Amino acid sequence: MKLRPLSTLMLAVLLTSGCGGKSDQGAQNNSTAPPSGGTSSSTSGTPAFTLPAGLDEGPRAAAGAIDESQVAAGEKLFQTKGCTACHAFGKRVTCPDLDGVTTRRTAKWIQTQILHPEVMTKQDPTARQLFATFSLQMPNQHLTEAEAAQVLEFLKHKNHEAPEAH
Ligand code: HEC
Repeated sequence: MKLRPLSTLMLAVLLTSGCGGKSDQGAQNNSTAPPSGGTSSSTSGTPAFTLPAGLDEGPRAAAGAIDESQVAAGEKLFQTKGCTACHAFGKRVTCPDLDGVTTRRTAKWIQTQILHPEVMTKQDPTARQLFATFSLQMPNQHLTEAEAAQVLEFLKHKNHEAPEAH
């Protein structure tokens, strides 16, 4: 007899904690507003396109001038979009060392890697090779194109500096 109200209570507790659990997904604290006037609204991750050819052909990213006005914003994104959890400069954490990455790849390649990492590891030979080495898929951090461009300027700036000891 007494069991019935008890189980109802437990159900209520389960339901409540189930809802509360949602807030655990702190990884995607999207404080970013949707890009105004953006061309695509597809944010869900199914890669439904083919990468353009020749992504890594041409001058390396570091050969281009650095837009210093974007560096601070790019650095902030690098920290707030989860990149630091996996990447560092001058040392290998769990993922590729980003020291000198702009001297190894083109700007377009890096931006595509940031915007569509899950497509890159499937279609781009270099990214596929990295995937084989690290046995880890870089997650899509859902940056906008403008944000990826800012991160690129930060990477160029960072790679341009003398190696730091920390
Ligand atoms: C969970 C770990 C993880 C996170 C978070 C992550 N990456 Fe990566 N990144 C990787 C791995 C692993 C690779 C190698 C390709 C692969 O296996 O997916 C990679 C590759 C790269 C490369 C190419 C490196 C090279 O040597 O050519 C760049 C550039 C890069 N990531 C930038 C970023 C930026 C910028 C962010 C944040 C927006 C970020 N990554 C977030 C794991 C991560």
